[in-house]
Amino acid sequence: LTSSTPYTALPAVLLLGPSGAGKTALLTLFERGPLTPPSTSEKTTSEPATAAQTHTSLTPASVELAVSSDSSGSSFRDDLDSTGATAKKFLLIDTPGHAKLRGAAISRLADSKYSLNPSTTSRSTVTDGTKLKAIVFVVDAAGLSDGDTSYDTSLPSTASFLYDVLLTLQKRATKAKGSKAPPTVPVLIAANKLDLFTALPAALVKSNLEAELGRIRKTRSKGLLDSGVGADDDLAGGEESDEWLGEYGSDKFSFKQMMEFDIEVDVIGGNVTGDGPGADKWWRWIADKV
Ligand code: GTP
Ligand code: MG
Repeated sequence: LTSSTPYTALPAVLLLGPSGAGKTALLTLFERGPLTPPSTSEKTTSEPATAAQTHTSLTPASVELAVSSDSSGSSFRDDLDSTGATAKKFLLIDTPGHAKLRGAAISRLADSKYSLNPSTTSRSTVTDGTKLKAIVFVVDAAGLSDGDTSYDTSLPSTASFLYDVLLTLQKRATKAKGSKAPPTVPVLIAANKLDLFTALPAALVKSNLEAELGRIRKTRSKGLLDSGVGADDDLAGGEESDEWLGEYGSDKFSFKQMMEFDIEVDVIGGNVTGDGPGADKWWRWIADKV
């Protein structure tokens, strides 16, 4: 299906997010098609694709995928070869979410071109010219209840990871202002595992993350605002504001504030396994960005 032609400078989409969120499961789903065949299909002797057989990732891996260039109706299930559609190829890059391994992925975001050591990628070619087009930040919607009401939540750790990602993108955008700015990178927060009845709807995932990001921002800037430096002071653009995520001095954080840096953040719910809205909306979002 994928040829071994050494494509250079394919656009890349990066999968980020905490361990266990479903990044590898999603990559496998996009690569192989749906996990369970539709119930209406005739029985076949072939094995169903096992998208959920994942294990904690230790190294980045990438797969080459293609979207139909008229993205509106396309699905990752479509066989573009048979429809004869013109396909746009891109790399989907998986990363390990473990706290001790994610730093490498974040630090590479600081560069306008995302480069990956080819020796660590098993299945496809990532070159120095590879352009990062979008980030899909996968979260487990079943584990993001508000920390005040639940001790069993990954909200603080997930939000802290997301904070680092967004702040890195923000710094990158700020640094580039004026000069030849690298294109900004949009972020999709994929609220995964909506098949689970304990999962929060996407709107709640969004507001919980925004609230937690606001708390983190407050904590990390302690001493900065306390010293009397506020939005009214003419210090925006100074060193301190570089570390502040979103609208400087604002009380509450919202993803909309990232638009100040031309960084679009969308939160869309879905699931890789089980019954639910599936992954089509995520695929269409990606198709729109590459
Ligand atoms: P790391 O590689 O450790 O960073 O984790 P990951 O984000 O790659 O997670 P992975 O894809 O390995 O998925 C972790 C577990 O979540 C697996 O057991 C998956 O089967 C499960 N999982 C993934 N997506 C879904 C989903 O939509 N619903 C449910 N119920 N489980 C899912
Ligand atoms: Mg993984």
